[in-house]
Amino acid sequence: MSSTISVNNVNRIYTDAEGNKVNALYNVDLDIRPGEFISIIGPSGCGKTTLLRLIAGLDKPQSGELTIDGSKITDVSPERGYVFQQGGLFPWLNVENNIAYGLKARKVYKKNKDKISRYISMVGLDGFERSYPHQISGGMAQRVAIARALINEPKALLLDEPMGALDSFTRADLQDKILELWKENGITMILVTHDIDEAIYLSDRIVIMTPRPGKISKLIDVDLPRPRHRGGSEFLAMRKSILEHFELAQAQPQPEYMI
Ligand SMILES: Nc1ncnc2c1ncn2[C@@H]1O[C@H](COP(=O)(O)OP(=O)(O)OP(=O)(O)O)[C@@H](O)[C@H]1O
Ligand SMILES: [Mg+2]
Repeated sequence: MSSTISVNNVNRIYTDAEGNKVNALYNVDLDIRPGEFISIIGPSGCGKTTLLRLIAGLDKPQSGELTIDGSKITDVSPERGYVFQQGGLFPWLNVENNIAYGLKARKVYKKNKDKISRYISMVGLDGFERSYPHQISGGMAQRVAIARALINEPKALLLDEPMGALDSFTRADLQDKILELWKENGITMILVTHDIDEAIYLSDRIVIMTPRPGKISKLIDVDLPRPRHRGGSEFLAMRKSILEHFELAQAQPQPEYMI
């Protein structure tokens, strides 16, 4: 179960504390194919979270339109699961109840109660059902956050830097888990990351964004066979070309330095 998500000529302008306009997204167009694994990369402030929040329906654009399977996105929906930049678990709920939260909120808990243990196993957390967020590691907490979104059987999972705060071993482990979940659930994955290697390792396609104004500056097809090898020559060549793209992007004059 997956879906087509279209972002059509979307603009999102914020007003900062001084009253200045911040063009967080400028004329952004993007079509995400059903079942695709897409990563969004770019420097801090280029609009990655803004774009993900719009796709989730947590925010609205000033102009342009976002659709899922042809229907306009106007609000949040369990069909678009969202994993927050900081995980966002409820500290007062144990693992099991964090995962069950969405079912209870939608009043479908009784009917789906049996699914909870399945999703706990799916993310490899058997035995930790009664643990509270402060009693588990950062990597485990992110897996709880992912299970909490997946249990609603979304068409798309939106992940905002879910591995940002993890050490490289835990990160590699979670990357493989995410790939496994993607294959198992057949859903569209949209991952925001700062990590070029992570984007190449996981994605079918990489969206490169640049800031001020926030826009898509390049789309890259990652046509490497899976499983991918981080040290492989094609992998490294792709990483080099992405790094070069950012250096070129940075070499362009920034509007605020041109006064
Ligand atoms: N609520 C807001 N009010 C005002 N400005 C905002 C708001 N949210 C984001 N911005 C600005 O919009 C731009 C894009 O922000 P966004 O959070 O989407 O960036 P990002 O690419 O996710 O960055 P990071 O990698 O640091 O998470 C930034 O310049 C940011 O300061
Ligand atoms: Mg962000």
